Amino acid sequence: MNQRPRRNRRTPALRNMVRETRLTVDNLIYPLFLVDGKKIKNEVKSLPGNYRWSLDLLLTEIEACMKLGLRSFILFPAVKESLKDKKATYSYSSKNFYLKAATAIKKRFPECCLISDVAMDPYSSDGHDGLVKKGIIVNDPTLPILGKMAVAQARAGFDLIGPSDMMDGRIGYIRQALDKAGFTDTGIMSYCAKYASAFYGPFRDALDSAPKAGDKKTYQMDPANKREALIEANLDIAEGADFLMVKPAIHYLDVIHLLHENTDLPIAAYQVSGECAMLVAAAQKGWLDFDQAMPEALLSIRRAGADVILTYFAKDWAMNHA
Ligand code: PBG
Repeated sequence: MNQRPRRNRRTPALRNMVRETRLTVDNLIYPLFLVDGKKIKNEVKSLPGNYRWSLDLLLTEIEACMKLGLRSFILFPAVKESLKDKKATYSYSSKNFYLKAATAIKKRFPECCLISDVAMDPYSSDGHDGLVKKGIIVNDPTLPILGKMAVAQARAGFDLIGPSDMMDGRIGYIRQALDKAGFTDTGIMSYCAKYASAFYGPFRDALDSAPKAGDKKTYQMDPANKREALIEANLDIAEGADFLMVKPAIHYLDVIHLLHENTDLPIAAYQVSGECAMLVAAAQKGWLDFDQAMPEALLSIRRAGADVILTYFAKDWAMNHA
């Protein structure tokens, strides 16, 4: 045999030398759930190890993450039912605790990267990402609401705006709204290929944001489709996105690869709540070794072509690799 691939696997030094994919803490974004109030740290039952935090305790948690070198965070608000309405008006209200929290976090940790979520669902009494009229999620009347939300978030100090709503034309609309308001340096991380997935379950438990009626299949992508992700990607690029996201990640590695091969923007991939929860559940049952399986899952997402990974394991990974 002239070729013996095992020769390069013989020692740790050799294996490290020829390793093709590397993951560092700089590649990770940690999703955090925020509630209004004080001294609240309330575990999400379907996502053990993740909490709904009030700002005071969240600041301590962010500080702990920063010490591990983890400095990018995406924030999601859990909003009281009484503050929700059909038009998600609380999303851009000056009283909004989520916006105030972002300002406080950036003031205390100016060196962190803070990413927002733009979609109506946490604020909508219908629980949909867009405006609901007669049972239909209407596209164009949703755009001004998303625009106001994005501008309010930029004003609050978010570094990147994260539209997760999947309305057509929203990246261009939001880019224009941001520019008009003077936020030309605030970037957009577009949820570009976001699928109508069953793996968002624990997240919707955390935010109490499940649709009150129907599902999200008229705006989120069909899990059967791959080429359609290129249509979304090309639109988002033309409309001014700074990052393209694929979501979920583990079950959509082919889509991550497709966008990596065919576009030039940085690719983000979101290992969503259900994808993380199933690994945690198997580990709790003793069926998987968490410390081995978790980094393998993250590495797979990198290998597929993701530059950055949004994952509920970000802190675990950082702790194990500090
Ligand atoms: C809201 C939003 C969702 C997630 C991120 N932003 C839920 C949804 O679209 O229903 C899911 C994230 C996760 O499951 O971890 N538009």
